[in-house]
Amino acid sequence: MRKILVLFAHPKYELSDVNQFLLENIRGLENVTIRDLYELYPDFHINIQAEQELLFEHEVIIWHHPIYWYSCPPILKQWIDLVLEFGWAYGPGGVFLRNKYILNAVTSGGSEMVYSTEGKNRYTLGEFLRPFEQTAYLCDMRYLPYFHVGGTHRISKEDLDQKAKEYRELVLTLRDSLEIPFSFIQKPQP
Ligand SMILES: Cc1cc2nc3c(=O)[nH]c(=O)nc-3n(C[C@H](O)[C@H](O)[C@H](O)COP(=O)(O)O)c2cc1C
Repeated sequence: MRKILVLFAHPKYELSDVNQFLLENIRGLENVTIRDLYELYPDFHINIQAEQELLFEHEVIIWHHPIYWYSCPPILKQWIDLVLEFGWAYGPGGVFLRNKYILNAVTSGGSEMVYSTEGKNRYTLGEFLRPFEQTAYLCDMRYLPYFHVGGTHRISKEDLDQKAKEYRELVLTLRDSLEIPFSFIQKPQP
């Protein structure tokens, strides 16, 4: 069984509909650690050593967040800036994340169609997520395809139920499968 670390970043959890629902559907699963970054670090003073120890203990990392201004909420950027240190995560001696799996699990107001070359956002979600992909690459991690729930402002209860089920199944597969399914390790979507 792999250990999964979910780094969750949502500045207003109590006002969240979609992310709260997704998160509650994976809460309490064995070997799944959820870290609510805004709750842990309301002042943004991230405990670097504690975060690095947790990363070291886990084999799969999930950056779980809503898309805000085509990126992540600021605490996750702060986490990346501080925790992924030169000489620890990358660079000489920076071998501690090597071969771990990592992916983004994101929600967006824009629908899947809006995130296309013909759509209003002009670029695919994969393109907006390139900085995360490259960060993983620099740290010698294996970046997996993202999980996405789009059109959050209009999503029906049935579709949200379905997405929450898919998210839980994804987490269970990453935790339990002997090999990470081949389709996951192909190059991430555009
Ligand atoms: C500050 C802010 C910035 C946002 N930027 C984007 C954006 O760039 N693209 C997008 O599709 N949705 C954007 N949204 C919509 C959020 O992604 C959406 O509200 C969220 O995924 C819904 O999840 P929740 O119910 O858990 O809050 C933004 C929302 C806020 C509050």
